[in-house]
Amino acid sequence: MAIDKNLIDQFIKVTTKAALSSSYLVGKKDKIAADKAAVDSMRSELNKMSIRGEIVIGEGELDEAPMLYIGEKVGNKNGPELDIAVDPLEGTNFAANNLPGALSVIAIAEKKNLFKAPETYMEKISTKVKEKNVVDLDYTIKQNISNLSDYLNKEPENLTACILDRPRHNEIIEELKKLKVNLKLITDGDVSGALLVTEDKYNVDIFLGIGGGPEGVIAAAALDAHNCNFQGRFLFESDEDKSRAIKMGINDLKRKYDLNEIVSGDSIFCATGITNGDLVSGIKIDDNKFVSETLVTHKSSGLKKVIKLKQNI
Ligand code: FBP
Repeated sequence: MAIDKNLIDQFIKVTTKAALSSSYLVGKKDKIAADKAAVDSMRSELNKMSIRGEIVIGEGELDEAPMLYIGEKVGNKNGPELDIAVDPLEGTNFAANNLPGALSVIAIAEKKNLFKAPETYMEKISTKVKEKNVVDLDYTIKQNISNLSDYLNKEPENLTACILDRPRHNEIIEELKKLKVNLKLITDGDVSGALLVTEDKYNVDIFLGIGGGPEGVIAAAALDAHNCNFQGRFLFESDEDKSRAIKMGINDLKRKYDLNEIVSGDSIFCATGITNGDLVSGIKIDDNKFVSETLVTHKSSGLKKVIKLKQNI
């Protein structure tokens, strides 16, 4: 069953209002306050909606997050049952330091169709190549680049790989340099990084590396609507992380998940810019009006577009 199209505008409102609330704290060097403003706003807007929503990805588990915790029920208890993944402020450093790329993001699927992801790291890979066995988390970097180069009929020096600039990626980055692949190194914000493979205009052929698991699941919803590919594998550092994951129903801790094991059926994805970024522009305030840009996807209707709105504050 499809998710009602009429809900799209309401979810756009949810991320738009969260982005506006957070925008007042851009450049204040306080990522906790910027995050809290987005979380409070998002929760209050979700609770006005006629849905029976459950947060499957949120600000943490019940014992660590007072709001939008995993398992929290949102909505006014009428309407469709939905799984909801939220990242009210994706790129807390970007917002705190007034840098490009801060977003407010939500992904929605029908009940039991969105992965309940633990707060842990995930090894990820995304490309626009849907065919199996071209790019795969189990292949070496060299194999993936060679396959992608053959498939896209582009020499490796004409391919671009996006990856978080972290010491844990030094080996991958060195390997990509050896293969003469161009790099797009991002300092944060790998929801956006993963989505740069969706359109030729971003000039990114592959996104890879280790980032947040929740961010991986959220990106997967938009990648699915764009008919792109994604794979993820959770990484658990401590025994505590492992036992939490097992409690959440993950039995095989080393499993590689394909996109449709992470999100299936219909979905909606909304990402509103807080500061300007690759995908969307940030909030602009002019007297008592503000302008927002939201990247929206709705899988079943094929909607994939940036919606610009000018509204009263
Ligand atoms: P926050 O918005 O929670 O600060 O996350 C930003 C982010 O860059 C994510 O996009 C990414 O998945 C994660 O942090 C990477 O984690 P780390 O900074 O530990 O490498």
